Amino acid sequence: MKVEESLLANVKMAPRDAILGLTELYVADPHPKKVNLGVGVYYDDQGKVPLLECVRKADEALTAAGVARPYLAMDGFPDYVRQVQSLLFGPGHPAVAAGRVTTVQAVGGTGGLKVGADFIKRFAPEAAVYLSDPTYDNHRPLFEEAGFRIETYPYYDPRTRGIRFTEMLACMRGIPKGSVVLLHACCHNPTGVDIRGEQWDEVMKIVAERRLLPFLDFAYQGFGDGVEEDAQVARRFAQALPAALVAMSFSKSFSLYGERVGALFVVAADSGEAAKVLSNLKRMIRTNYSNPPSHGARIVAAVLASPELRALWVKEVIGMRDRVRSMRRELVERLKKRIPEDFSFILQQRGIFSYSGLSREQMVAMRERYAVYGIESGRICVAALNSRNLDYVADSIAATIKLSTDELAKPRAAA
Ligand code: LMR
Repeated sequence: MKVEESLLANVKMAPRDAILGLTELYVADPHPKKVNLGVGVYYDDQGKVPLLECVRKADEALTAAGVARPYLAMDGFPDYVRQVQSLLFGPGHPAVAAGRVTTVQAVGGTGGLKVGADFIKRFAPEAAVYLSDPTYDNHRPLFEEAGFRIETYPYYDPRTRGIRFTEMLACMRGIPKGSVVLLHACCHNPTGVDIRGEQWDEVMKIVAERRLLPFLDFAYQGFGDGVEEDAQVARRFAQALPAALVAMSFSKSFSLYGERVGALFVVAADSGEAAKVLSNLKRMIRTNYSNPPSHGARIVAAVLASPELRALWVKEVIGMRDRVRSMRRELVERLKKRIPEDFSFILQQRGIFSYSGLSREQMVAMRERYAVYGIESGRICVAALNSRNLDYVADSIAATIKLSTDELAKPRAAA
């Protein structure tokens, strides 16, 4: 029988994902000392994704109670929605009190971004999306897949290793009214360099004047200054502006990566607008995946509802943040002993990433020669360092930095 060419004959290879594609390469690598500093995951000093004690306790209580698995509502588990809304906005926030905030459970932070992107596309189809340069590697493809034209605003300055703040503001003043501006609420991914304190006032002023729609990506609560402190940016946006979106992830803060626990918050001008927003978010969820998974959301809701478990959670987040900070110090110390280049900027960066300043060629060489995997932009996940791999990583970075341009250009086989 002759096989006819099907429609699938036109399918082309899609590009490899910059982050998860690297994990695939890492998993396939037989190198005995391989280290994955690619994906943004917090590991403990044993190199394991931790099961937080607060999560274990909540999970055991749920299992002991024998919870059935019905469908959740389209917008998620009600206790979870209530708890995460109060976690983000704090008690008595005026926007919440006025009924201006819509909260829906989302399939991780990425799910929150995508539902938010689809929602904006429907009601502002001509809007462009402005991303920081650089930004999280999944932002551009995610908003492109949602049909948006992507622009960037200046952000990181490799020379000062700080923010190009003046240029950033100047660019924002020229952004057409009604555009979407994606901002990182804390622990900027990939640079670890944040907009701070009064700088946010200036950003908010321009966002208000230009009538831009801010979309905050908030995936690292507690890894910056603290659980409460890191939420302040979203609280201020909700208070000062008539419209804002926040996508939140609990993957890192609860170490619940595979449970896909996230949320999307939409702040509207008044409660009438908020009701319309909710009806549309529900429709978007229903036509994509119907309703979200329940187990992780039940765990987060249970932890946040119990004063004892909540206090334990805050303590455990502090523990993770402190370990990341100590890994930054240890790495800088080790590099100092090996090479003259100054890496002390790693100590100033916040969150679980460090923008190492290594070039694309150096990152590829480090992967091919030493099986130390980092993102080709130069981003390394410092939360994946531990007392056993620190020396090897420092050796690999030092050896890579010493490679000549010619050596960097050589393919692996010749290395
Ligand atoms: C990352 O930036 O590596 C994390 O947010 C994980 C992911 O989904 O990309």
